[in-house]
Amino acid sequence: MVKITDEMKEVSQKSHGWALATVSKEGIPNVIAVGNVKILSENEILLADNFMGKTVKNIKENPEVAAAVWDWDNVLGYQFKGTARIEYSGEMLEEAAAVDMASAKSRKKNLPPEVFAKLLERIPVLKPKAAIIITVKSIYNISPGRRTAGKLLSS
Ligand SMILES: Cc1cc2nc3c(=O)[nH]c(=O)nc-3n(C[C@H](O)[C@H](O)[C@H](O)COP(=O)(O)O)c2cc1C
Repeated sequence: MVKITDEMKEVSQKSHGWALATVSKEGIPNVIAVGNVKILSENEILLADNFMGKTVKNIKENPEVAAAVWDWDNVLGYQFKGTARIEYSGEMLEEAAAVDMASAKSRKKNLPPEVFAKLLERIPVLKPKAAIIITVKSIYNISPGRRTAGKLLSS
């Protein structure tokens, strides 16, 4: 059984964001940065869709995705492969809105006021278009090292 562990959750919390890779029906890959992410359970990851374009198009054509997250300081990272779905309403969309809100609050708390004000000009308080939920089917270690890099951790 696949299992997102507490250590993986800690890496996610410490990280500044995730990478999400999708593939179009023609096989063209696409990778984006996603900051507003929450691990929902032992096998589900939620990502807030605020600006996604090609990513959503690709998921509709081909729901197989890969995501990665890492902790630069401790040089640890994980890769998650699975199937993504898109939810436009309901509990998952509310969860995505809460993730966006928490991220805005954390930036307000941690950034100098003038930097936060500039950021707000560029990115006003976000309202997600949708929630992307990945049902994870396999997890790999991507931490460098002969015993770790590329190793399957659970599936
Ligand atoms: C640091 C950073 C954080 C980002 N966080 C998010 C996010 O949480 N949600 C989102 O929809 N887009 C986010 N983006 C924007 C996406 O990376 C990307 O620009 C968007 O999905 C459009 O790309 P696409 O057409 O390939 O999907 C972020 C970008 C950067 C650089």
